[in-house]
Amino acid sequence: MQTLAFENGDTLPIIGLGTWKSQPGEVHQAVREAIRAGYRHIDCAHIYGNEKEVGQALNEALGAGEVRREELWITSKLWNSAHAPEDVAPALRQTLSDLGLDYLDLYLIHWPVAHKPGVVFPNSGEDLLSLEERPIAATWAALEALVDDGLTRHIGVSNFSISKLQTLLETARIKPAMNQIELHPYLQQNSMLEFCHANGVHLTAYSPLGSFDRPAAFKAADEPVLLEDPVIVEIAERHQASPAQVLIRWATQRGTAVIPKSVNPERLRQNLAAADLELDDGDMDRIAALDKHRRYVSGANWAQPGSPYTLENLWDE
Ligand code: A2P
Repeated sequence: MQTLAFENGDTLPIIGLGTWKSQPGEVHQAVREAIRAGYRHIDCAHIYGNEKEVGQALNEALGAGEVRREELWITSKLWNSAHAPEDVAPALRQTLSDLGLDYLDLYLIHWPVAHKPGVVFPNSGEDLLSLEERPIAATWAALEALVDDGLTRHIGVSNFSISKLQTLLETARIKPAMNQIELHPYLQQNSMLEFCHANGVHLTAYSPLGSFDRPAAFKAADEPVLLEDPVIVEIAERHQASPAQVLIRWATQRGTAVIPKSVNPERLRQNLAAADLELDDGDMDRIAALDKHRRYVSGANWAQPGSPYTLENLWDE
């Protein structure tokens, strides 16, 4: 399995298992199956509401000797309601307790967005705090302390624009090792790819298959279905692969980690096997032409009337 290397010599298996939208009741089996199939990278978050069940599966696999902890790469994320510096270590400790682990491999600031204390999801713009009121730099310093304390090996961010990453890189004592963002052929983010490459920041592609299983409230009626794109389907047929495999291999050939979500044993094996596919220059060129700067995860939830966030100042575009 191709890996991404970190400054301290750690390596991240480039294809991981996504767990966003994996329901309690199904994610346990998915994680057990994934580890049996050879996945060593599992992407989690407190807000997914399933870390206890993921942890149960991880600990069963560890206890059964199917895998050793040091072979696994476990990522989790700090939710928006815990950006106050004094809330950061307790949030990570909760995640560690839920996952049944002593340390994480990577802990990310989930969004460059802060909620008022106790607000899990904002019901109105009043429920949010601006980044002036709750500066990222102070939250970041609290994440750096987690590395000092051995609670996570690496720290990073998610959903950060180039401009927000740049600001953080200028002030951080420990630089962000990762930005996890929405990336797929309809949202290729080439300038982000170049910026991260030049600055030694890795990227992880979320929603690589277009996240068709998102809650209806987050879906546009007319949205294009990435897995049914005729170019992707045609390339898949020619390689005797599936459209999902083409999308996953496209991500890894661009040097980004990728975390397709599946709770289906056959599909999660198929997704890992995308590593064996080889897209040629012609395939990559045709996929490059599909970019439409289309976000499936728009961030509109944070840009409600009265919120300090707008889609413009969230994405800086
Ligand atoms: P399922 O979990 O039933 O396999 P994303 O990773 O972009 O969030 O997309 C996840 C969605 O894609 C889920 O609906 C998931 O369904 C589906 N999916 C995952 N792997 C495949 C695959 N190989 N082929 C088709 N759909 C897939």
